[in-house]
Amino acid sequence: MAMQWNENLAVGVDVIDNQHKGIISRINNLLNAMSQGKGKDEVGKVLTFLADYVVKHFSAEEGLMKKHNFDGYAEQQAEHAKFIKDFSLLKNEFETRGVTSTLVLQTQRQLCDWLTNHITSKDKQIGAFIKKCA
Ligand SMILES: [Fe+2]
Repeated sequence: MAMQWNENLAVGVDVIDNQHKGIISRINNLLNAMSQGKGKDEVGKVLTFLADYVVKHFSAEEGLMKKHNFDGYAEQQAEHAKFIKDFSLLKNEFETRGVTSTLVLQTQRQLCDWLTNHITSKDKQIGAFIKKCA
């Protein structure tokens, strides 16, 4: 089932929300490919795209947090670092062992779960904080 961006995932900062939508659309490309039995063709594209995109996205978020002296910065940065570490393990597996069904499933689950949890539990606090302090 495709991931839907909805108001529950809205951080309230356009640049961040648009980047989240960009990540979700890549996850959906993978989900769609998987439902057509083509997940193995898509997983490499998703991993390659996200490796760069996520670094840019995290630095945009971290820049915004610094600019507003957001008090949850360290916690956010720790979650971002953990994501990058877990993501590199996936990418490494892809590069060394090639594409397997397990890798496809694991990539989809890891991305979907992490993003939903991280946005709802952490990123939304940034938007709320900025609004409160504006
Ligand atoms: Fe974040």
